[in-house]
Amino acid sequence: MVHTSIAEIAKYNGKEVTLKGWLYNLRSSGKIHFLQVRDGSGFIQGVMVKNEVGEDLFNKVKEMSQESSVIVEGVVKEDDRAPSGYELTVNNVNLVDKADEYPISKKEHGTDFLMDHRHLWLRSPRQVAIMKIRDTLVKATRDFFHKDGFTLVDAPILTPSSCEGTTTLFETDYFDTKAYLSQSGQLYMEAAALALGKVYCFGPTFRAEKSKTRRHLIEFWMIEPEMAYVEFEENLEIQENYLTYIVSEVLKHNKKELETLGRDISRLEAIKAPFPRITYDKAIELLQEKGEEIKWGEDFGAPHETIIAEHFEKPVFVTHYPTEIKSFYMKPDPKRPEVVLAADLLAPEGYGEIIGGSERISSLDLLMERVESENLPLDAYQWYIDLRKYGSVPHSGFGLGLERTVAWVCGLEHIRETIPFPRMLNRMYP
Ligand code: 4AD
Ligand code: MG
Repeated sequence: MVHTSIAEIAKYNGKEVTLKGWLYNLRSSGKIHFLQVRDGSGFIQGVMVKNEVGEDLFNKVKEMSQESSVIVEGVVKEDDRAPSGYELTVNNVNLVDKADEYPISKKEHGTDFLMDHRHLWLRSPRQVAIMKIRDTLVKATRDFFHKDGFTLVDAPILTPSSCEGTTTLFETDYFDTKAYLSQSGQLYMEAAALALGKVYCFGPTFRAEKSKTRRHLIEFWMIEPEMAYVEFEENLEIQENYLTYIVSEVLKHNKKELETLGRDISRLEAIKAPFPRITYDKAIELLQEKGEEIKWGEDFGAPHETIIAEHFEKPVFVTHYPTEIKSFYMKPDPKRPEVVLAADLLAPEGYGEIIGGSERISSLDLLMERVESENLPLDAYQWYIDLRKYGSVPHSGFGLGLERTVAWVCGLEHIRETIPFPRMLNRMYP
């Protein structure tokens, strides 16, 4: 008898197999048990008939509780009605460990309860589907950048300075001095791009943001490409091609998971480069026409982003933001220095900003001006300023938030379900 996984079951139609997993659910009539078995790779229904296996085994299985670990033996049978396309005629079930009464039942639970039991909640079909799609997005990301000649360069987590502003820094002791948890690997990627041409980092980043919204995490994962000799417009093209690719990979590999989540697939099928572009100026006009009280120079809130995105089927680039409200490293437009060569990519369906990117300042003088006007500590940034002294070139990059992308692709209400163990304003457990 072969040991296989549920994902591989199609190869064994008509054969006897062993599955090692957990009893997800058990329904019984007097004569037949219907066992839902999961093994991490999938879910399958097993059917055990009393007359075929004998009374002893049949009664033993009846006592097995939800989430008990079990080794199941049976014959694979094609079945069009089954969600996996197969069913198992079960001949034997060996109990590995009997589970205590499982706290997560089939009934509805409140969010706090589920979050307190995140370590168990992860086992549900919905959470498994989300984790699988997250995995596809990560693999597709790595494939996309490697096919295109990028090198992965890991950025440090403990840093001496801030990338995205001091108001959201986590501070920690670093022997006799202070360190900060990284908000972004970008500044290090700029150094790496001048060494390796096209690079990206992908790691956890931290924001001590007192925001309690459905889009904010305290710890999230960011993919940050950085490219030497790439200017503003080409940076946008790389972003739209990248996003088109990773969404198409999910459509290719995760049809089943998208179905489990009830995702409207047609919305994802529409995601094809090129994406529309709208300037910040035009976006402000659009918001004012819609009756929003927002003035030029102000940043968008989540409701503004939703209104802008609603005008488009695809993600939309909002470009040329006011220099005042954006980060110090962004290159001012030479024709109009009050705006920067930056773009945020807003996802459709109200998911908000999923990418922030820009061309960077390559001139030493201009960077010094910005560093001084923002009162940044020169000693902590000296290495970054140095990059403009030794063969500076035009360069650009962007950061895609993995969790916001997962939320959008999966069609989730809240970002808390996109990461295995979310860190949020009021939660660090489990
Ligand atoms: O716009 P942000 O802050 O940009 C940067 O950090 C740049 N240094 C990136 C770069 O150019 N290399 O963040 C980029 C993305 C956002 O668009 C969003 O998707 C995500 O990171 N993000 C968050 N995701 C979850 N929770 C939060 N608190 C987030 N803050 C940003
Ligand atoms: Mg941003």
